[in-house]
This record gives sequence, C-alpha cells and structure tokens, in this order.
Amino acid sequence: MEFKNISIYFHWPFCESKCPYCDFNSHVRKEINHRQWLLGYLINIENWKKKLPHSKIQSVYFGGGTPSLMNPRSISIILEKLYKNFLLSDDIEISLEANPSTVEKRKFKDFSSIGVNRISIGVQSFNDNDLKRLGRKHSANDAIKAIDIAKSSFYNVNFDLIYGRQFQNLSEWEKELEFALSLESQHLSLYQLTIEKGTAFKNLYNAGKLEGLPSQELSRRFFITTNKLCKKKNFNSYEISNFAKNKFECVHNLNYWRCGNFIGIGPGAHGRFEYKRSRFSYKNIMNPENWLEKSLTSKNPIQKLKEISRLEQFEELIMMGLRTSEGINLNNIEKKTDISLNMDKLDYLKKSKFVSLKNKNLHLLTKGKLVLNKIVNELLT
Ligand SMILES: C[S@@+](CC[C@H](N)C(=O)[O-])C[C@H]1O[C@@H](n2cnc3c(N)ncnc32)[C@H](O)[C@@H]1O
Ligand code: SF4
Repeated sequence: MEFKNISIYFHWPFCESKCPYCDFNSHVRKEINHRQWLLGYLINIENWKKKLPHSKIQSVYFGGGTPSLMNPRSISIILEKLYKNFLLSDDIEISLEANPSTVEKRKFKDFSSIGVNRISIGVQSFNDNDLKRLGRKHSANDAIKAIDIAKSSFYNVNFDLIYGRQFQNLSEWEKELEFALSLESQHLSLYQLTIEKGTAFKNLYNAGKLEGLPSQELSRRFFITTNKLCKKKNFNSYEISNFAKNKFECVHNLNYWRCGNFIGIGPGAHGRFEYKRSRFSYKNIMNPENWLEKSLTSKNPIQKLKEISRLEQFEELIMMGLRTSEGINLNNIEKKTDISLNMDKLDYLKKSKFVSLKNKNLHLLTKGKLVLNKIVNELLT
C-alpha cells in the first residue's frame, strides 16, 4: 500500500486522574514503564512501515489520555523513527494533547524543540468551582499559565473548553468565552457537555443527582452564542465544535472528517484506509496492558480488521462530512459508493433551511447544526 497523504495517531492511555465526564480510553496507573511503552510504539511503527512503503505522512497526533505525561525523549524517538521510515509532507502537522496540571515550562519547550508544532490544552473551564465539579486537578490560573507558556513555545495553540455545564448560565458563558477569545490562540475546541455511557456523571445522572444541566432551549442558545462570538473574533467554525483562525484548521482532524486514510497506534486506536478500491477499518485492543503485551511479544494488537461495505462508507461520509462547514459533495459520494441520497428528503431539508445545497455541495445551516444527529438519521433512513 502506498498513500500520498496519511495521518498517524498515537494513543497514550494514561491520566493522573479520571475525570467524571470522560469516556475516552484513559486509565490511572501508579507506575508506568515508559521504556516498554516506547518499545511498543516503535514495534508497531516498524510493522506499519512494511505495509506502507513510500507513503507520505501529512499529520501525526499524540492523543489520549494525557500524552503530555509522556517523556519528551520517547516522543522524540518515535518522531525520528517516523522520519527515517516514511516520507513527510513539507508542512507536516504534529499535535500533542496536554493537560494544564502536567505542564512545566521545560517540557513544553522540549516538545517544541523535538518537532511537535501544535499543542492542544484541555482547559475545560476558567471557573474554579466548575473545574472542581468537572473533577479537574488544575485551577483556572494554571490553565492561563499553561496557555501563556504554550504561546511562547508554539505558533499553533489550541485549547478545549466544555460549556453547558451544571448551573452555567448564558451570560457567564459569554464572559468566559470572551475571555478565552482574548487569549489569542489560533484554534478553539468548544464542546457541549455530553453525559456519556459508563462515566461517573452518567451514574449520577441516572440517580437524579446531576443537577443544573441546561434545558434544550438553553443548549440551543449556548450554541448560537458560541458561534456568534467566535465569528466576531474571526474564528471560523469549520466543524460543529471546532473554530480556527484562517489556515489553522487542524489537518489531522479534517482528515478524519473527510474520511481520509489514517493509521492508529496504541490501545483502542482506530484506523481506516483504502486498498485496491476497497476500504478497511480496524481497532486496536482497548486494554493498555494487553495491548502492550501483544505488541512486545510480536502478536498482533489489532482486532476487528474488516472491509467496510459501500453502505457503511456512504453512512460515514455523510455522518462525518456534515460535521464540517465545507460539507460533502454528492457527486463524489455517489462515485465512491454507487449510492445516492434521497432528493425528496434533501429538497424538504433545503426548503426548511436546515441545509444548503448548491451544485451538489451539501452543508448544514445553523438551524441544521443544532439537530445534526436528527438530520443524519433522516438522510440515512
Ligand atoms: C482526550 S481529552 C483532552 C486532553 C487531556 N486529556 C485533558 O483532558 O486535558 C479531549 C477533550 O474532549 C473533551 N471531552 C471529553 N469528554 C467530554 C464530554 N463528556 N463532554 C464534552 N466534552 C468532552 C474535553 O474538552 C477534552 O479536553
Ligand atoms: S478528560 Fe482528559 S484528563 Fe480527564 S480523564 Fe479524559 S483524557 Fe484524562
């Protein structure tokens, strides 16, 4: 297999503590053998290298968990291994997720000096009480400091905020977002709090103990205000929850939403790629210790490698593409999958101002973004 543009994701599955809202594959461990983990990643890169000779990497993403807990030296060795074994695009994007409580000035400088060129900080809130409710170990001040340090080491800084939090009102969010925008990062990920299955928040919610969540109407107003304030500061809403200054859209995530080719390495990491006009998906074993053990003993840590049917591809292209402001091109989707959308349904959605459809390009309007899942369901049934 040879790819002109491929993305590589590394999953680091550990955090200092588990946040009660988070359903990511992240775990707390007393001790982590960093050397063994490095070896695990290197073995997997070696295996992929054999399958993907002459492929060109456009982006690398260290996600988690909390990959800022990794040794900069490990990241440096991983990157060197990639440089030696793959072609690299001239403007390769190399991102790393960081938690404000694991930030030391030196570590950020080190990450930047070894080639990481985009940092993404999980701030979540600038309100200390809300940070406590979200189970975060850092304060608003720690987050502000982390952003400041990041800006001195990186040209491309993102931070994440969660809104629609318990007892949050609209004017508080407006002030918080205005403050966030004044910090002049290049990118913002702004997520509405979702209560995910298997989390501590879900248990509280089921027991009727998670109080103060926003009504549907307040959630709608949060979303509209978020978009309005970001637009005013020239942050382009290029995906439902992602906002970027011109040319700072995240290359790695855009590749996911465009259903490009990507390789995932690490516990629970997914991959998707095209081979001989077919598309394949796979997932790594979720459990960190099992994944590492398999990798180190030359057993395959990948489970569930399968060909994706045309219908599944069609569904993915719609589901992912409609998240973006560029949307989807119906001709391209038809060419790829031999399946077309129902024109009567599209006409209805267009007349009701949920979507825009011009020259076979389809994207959601604000009214549609508010009910993204309903629209996707409507189009796929
Ligand atoms: C893998 S975490 C990011 C990095 C790092 N582990 C941290 O928390 O600082 C990705 C992001 O997803 C968002 N997120 C996770 N669970 C969420 C939820 N239930 N609702 C809304 N946003 C969520 C958070 O903003 C978080 O920063
Ligand atoms: S939100 Fe981040 S720090 Fe918290 S548990 Fe999830 S991955 Fe770990």
